[in-house]
Amino acid sequence: MANTLSVTDSRVPNPVNQPVIIRLEDIFKVYGSGETEVRALNGVNLTVEQGEYCSIMGPSGSGKSTAMNIIGCLDRPSSGHYYLDNLDVAQMEDADLARIRNKKLGFVFQQFHLLSQLSALENVMLPMVYAGVNAGERRDRAAEALKRVGLEKRLNNKPTQLSGGQQQRVAIARAIVNRPVLLLADEPTGALDSRTTQEVLDIFTELNATGITVVMVTHEPDVARQTKRVVWFRDGEVVHSNLSPSDVGHLAAS
Ligand SMILES: Nc1ncnc2c1ncn2[C@@H]1O[C@H](COP(=O)(O)OP(=O)(O)OP(=O)(O)O)[C@@H](O)[C@H]1O
Ligand SMILES: [Mg+2]
Repeated sequence: MANTLSVTDSRVPNPVNQPVIIRLEDIFKVYGSGETEVRALNGVNLTVEQGEYCSIMGPSGSGKSTAMNIIGCLDRPSSGHYYLDNLDVAQMEDADLARIRNKKLGFVFQQFHLLSQLSALENVMLPMVYAGVNAGERRDRAAEALKRVGLEKRLNNKPTQLSGGQQQRVAIARAIVNRPVLLLADEPTGALDSRTTQEVLDIFTELNATGITVVMVTHEPDVARQTKRVVWFRDGEVVHSNLSPSDVGHLAAS
């Protein structure tokens, strides 16, 4: 651990300042109370600009998923401010949060969280049901999203009839079908082999190239290296907010 702090943050040059899409200000998250109290986040400050492709790394238990759940409006901070696309979401009502999640955000998790009784197409259509899109358009847009991830021949397959990598691609199609501004992924390649990992990363790179901001948690330096910026967590804090992806090997080995 001793050399962890010796790696200096190197700001990835960004000549054009983009609008800020994520701004976390002094975010604390405390679970439980008294003897069982856990400070999962301990004053996190983080800014991500529109169009970035970041990875979040750090040891197990350092607060990465807790931070992602707050960024994704699945959970609220105990204190602090969170501005998502300039909206102060930390204080919002549940119904408003759900609407923002559905409209602005897409999620991908390590375990794909597909509904097993539904086909790929039906899984991808679901977020549009909540968004109030009519049935015909739902079908067209779901098919288009599945084509975008290379699954146009698998529309009617159920999750059990698909490989792990294909299931994750269905999950990505579901995450992008409402055209989110921000795609969040918590260890999306954790359950995949190296070939399917690369397929998923190629899709993220393509989505980012079309302007979607992508933030991904990963334990794997090889995965982080394919992003443009690395944020490093330790003990509920951001200890490096802007590492160059080529520096992650040093930290991961320490
Ligand atoms: N619902 C919960 N109740 C109590 N403690 C929790 C809860 N969720 C997380 N924690 C604790 O908060 C801390 C941060 O957890 P978190 O899941 O954010 O870590 P992580 O960096 O994502 O770890 P990993 O790499 O293992 O996924 C840990 O100490 C964890 O035990
Ligand atoms: Mg986690």
